[in-house]
Amino acid sequence: MNGRFATGILGTGSCLPDKRLTNHDLEKIVETSDEWILQRTGIRERRVLEEGVPAAELAETAARKAMARAGIEPGSLDLIIAATITPDSLTPSMACSIQARIGAVNASAFDLNAACTGFIYALHVAQQYIATGAAAQVLVVAVEGLSRVTDWQDRKTCVLFGDGAGAVVLGRVEDGTGVLASMTGAAGEQGGCLTLPAFHMTDTDREVRPHGKTQTIWMDGSEVFAFASRTMADSVRKVLEKAELSVEDLDWIFPHQANMRILQNAQKRLKFPMDRIYSNLEFTGNMSSASIPVCLDEAVEKSLLKKGDLLALVAFGGGLTYGATAIRWSMD
Ligand code: COA
Repeated sequence: MNGRFATGILGTGSCLPDKRLTNHDLEKIVETSDEWILQRTGIRERRVLEEGVPAAELAETAARKAMARAGIEPGSLDLIIAATITPDSLTPSMACSIQARIGAVNASAFDLNAACTGFIYALHVAQQYIATGAAAQVLVVAVEGLSRVTDWQDRKTCVLFGDGAGAVVLGRVEDGTGVLASMTGAAGEQGGCLTLPAFHMTDTDREVRPHGKTQTIWMDGSEVFAFASRTMADSVRKVLEKAELSVEDLDWIFPHQANMRILQNAQKRLKFPMDRIYSNLEFTGNMSSASIPVCLDEAVEKSLLKKGDLLALVAFGGGLTYGATAIRWSMD
């Protein structure tokens, strides 16, 4: 156990927008094909927020589901952490908007930006609060409206991303269950290969955005691909080592969903069965920080997870950042 109190997931929730954008829809927007996207990424469709709908709406629904599943009232939450790179506004933060929407009057609230690794970082932070006794119940919501920062004229990126929200309620669990170990890291010197400017544009930022859009994602896909393939397997190994466990002990891997070929590379490096690497990429695309908690909630809905199962959650993304969590499942 890391600290005085063992910390585990008490409830999960998720919410995706209703609107689907298929590869065939994208064929009408940019020069691409369903075949190319499916072969190179594994994605068939993604969900996108309707215009005028705040991402906080998805976050609220996901949060309410997670609280209902955990049997927890909003008033008993001590802390809300929202992992996001696409908040509706910088202030109020997404976490404060969620707090207001659900009426969690006793909670502190802040946003955390670690891009696609945001959920892993947020779990790690939440666990420190709970393990030390600073908080008893924490809501982590990972929510993204990536369609709002997508350059719909750039075929190299617009086929990849989707919108969605996933949430978990964390609290004290039996010793020996819950989060066993976490690891997080960053490679800021490689930050330039995945960018989304906010209030300052460099010359490079302008050069790589020939369509004149300022707040859009730009990515050197092959650089990120190489980084992801390497760090995904390494991070799983490192977090298991910290927990004094090995790949053979794992029941499931819940990876960040960016590209099916990245998952296949990790599978080969780890020699772990593909059918135990959870993926919903085909129907959601890359939802950045929201990918892992949405997958977790789907797995709970499908009754795939048993109490006592050992899971590795693992992510990489903008920053660049990476991280993993080893968790002994504690929900019935
Ligand atoms: N449709 C058709 N052709 C496309 C295309 C699309 N949507 N996107 C790119 N292409 C073309 C390129 O223009 C290039 O053509 P060229 O050789 O004539 O220049 C060709 O396909 C190959 O491009 P490349 O970028 O080498 O493809 P790839 O196999 O590396 O796949 C990504 C590109 C983006 C799918 C892949 O690099 C990737 O998934 N990277 C990691 C992304 C990621 O994880 N991002 C999130 C981090 S959290």
